[in-house]
Parts: sequence; structure tokens; C-alpha cells
Amino acid sequence: MNNKLKSILENNREWTGRGNVATYIPELSTGNRDALGIYIVTCDGEEFSAGDIDEQFTIQSISKVITLICALEDYGSEEVFKKISAEPTADAFNSIINLETKNYHKPLNPMINSGAIATVSMLKGKSLSEKYDRVVSLIRELSQNQNITLNEKVYMSENKTGNRNRSIAYFMKSTGVIDGDIEECLTLYFLLCSLNITCKDISKIASVIANKGVLPWNGKRVFKEETANITKAIMLTCGMYDASGEFSIMVGIPAKSGVGGGIMAVVPNRMGIGVIGPSLDEKGNSIAGVKLLKDLSKEYNLSIFA
Ligand code: DON
Repeated sequence: MNNKLKSILENNREWTGRGNVATYIPELSTGNRDALGIYIVTCDGEEFSAGDIDEQFTIQSISKVITLICALEDYGSEEVFKKISAEPTADAFNSIINLETKNYHKPLNPMINSGAIATVSMLKGKSLSEKYDRVVSLIRELSQNQNITLNEKVYMSENKTGNRNRSIAYFMKSTGVIDGDIEECLTLYFLLCSLNITCKDISKIASVIANKGVLPWNGKRVFKEETANITKAIMLTCGMYDASGEFSIMVGIPAKSGVGGGIMAVVPNRMGIGVIGPSLDEKGNSIAGVKLLKDLSKEYNLSIFA
């Protein structure tokens, strides 16, 4: 499979030149526009890879999946979806408009910024550092990588320029969606977006979701099957933002993107896939990563609708 994977990847590399790295968080502009890499971990524990797999990037919105898993495990789906809806959006990931005009102020889903900030506000823990450590420990366990650390430069850059996220959070405080200290909630949200990660790390996390919450490498259950199922459903319908519908048609795999250029994709009961390609399309998804996943899905019949 490695040779086939390499040829699918190299066939799509030219797409990296047709997008751009994110610049609205200034530190992300240092991302490597030309990089493209893919890592696959199957539910049987086999691993395949091609391209720039050592490229480090920040997890960004892919952390929204882990935050959701924590909230579902802590509260159950009924409580979580009382606060945050589970409906796709046709607006950008950082849009604020629906908070005022739709849905009794509830954020539309946990994969966009408003819904993720509301999910972060639910995290259990006595202090900011306890909450942070809990999510990071889970990421380390799911990725089998104890060396996942904070990218301080990206964190500082996000914190300094995150006025849109501040507006979203304060708006949700005004409507009672979020309780508690808004600055603490935003700090945690920015920290969790700023973790350094590789495509191997996200492929491992994806493989656990694909394997219904059980670590493929040792059979240990880390979260409930119901949590895995809800997470896959939300990823499919909302994970690629306002391109989720098109991605479902073209690729047909539950996935979550981040503006660092990562895409974490889950093929239920089969494999987890991690892609890195920091050059983004106009909706904030890795431009070459999406094309690569489209070709991979076609080649190996990976669409859940196939
Ligand atoms: O809040 C933000 O804008 C970023 N920390 C995360 C956004 C993101 O990754 C959206 N991705 N496509």
C-alpha cells in the first residue's frame, strides 16, 4: 500500500501551490505551504505513510473533536446537545451571526468556533490547568505520544489576535449559553488549539474513534462506543465546516480539519487517517489534503456510502 499511497500523494502535491497558509493568526503564516503528508493506522494496528510525515503543525480545530469526546463522556449527549446544537452550517467556522438570529442563541454545532468554545466551557476540573492537563493527557493517550507539547508562539499569537473568538464568547455569556469566567474559557480554547502535532498523531487518534473508543494497539477502552458514534456523525455533518456536504459526496468519510493544515479522518471499523497540508482553500481546509483524501477514498472504496 505504501507505494500506491506515495503515488496518490505525489499526484496531488501540485494543489499545495493553489492555496495559502492561514495568516489571520499571524504565527500560522510560518507554516510550510509545500508540505503534504499522510499517515494511516488500521484498526488491526497496521501503519502506512507517505510524504512529509514529520512536518509539525498545530492541531487547531481538530482539538474540537477531543473536547467533544470529553464533554460527551462527562455529561452524556442529552446534556451536551441542550447547550450546543448538532446542525451543520453554511457559514464560516468563525461566524457569529447565527448566535443572534437562529436557534435561541444555541451555537449550531461543536465543530465551529462558537460551539467549541461552549463545549470547552463545560469541561470539568477545579482549575484551568487541571482542565488543560486532562484534555492533553487524553490526546497523548489516544495518539500514543507522550511528547505532545504546546506551541507557545502560536498560543501567544492566537491570544493576541483572537478578537473574533472573544466576541463570540462574550456574546454567549450575555445570552447565558456560557457560565463562568470567559477569559479562562478562551485561554483554554486557545491553548488546546495550539498543541504541536503530526499526521501520525492524528491518524492514531482517528483510529481509536474508528475502533469505537478502544485503543487498537492494546484493546483498552478509553471512551464509550456511543461517544465514538456521535463524534463520527458530527464530524461527517459538520467537521469540514461549510464544505461538509461537498466533502461527504466527494470523500464520504467523517473528518475534521484545522487551519494548521491537518485533516483527521475516520473510516469506521477500518482505519484512522491523518493528513497534513498547510496550504488551505478559501474555507480553511487543506487544499491538497482534501484532493488526496478524495483519490484515496476512490482507490480503496472508503466512502461510508459506498
Ligand atoms: O479559533 C480559531 O480561529 C482557531 N484557533 C481554530 C480554527 C480552525 O482551525 C478552523 N479550521 N478550519
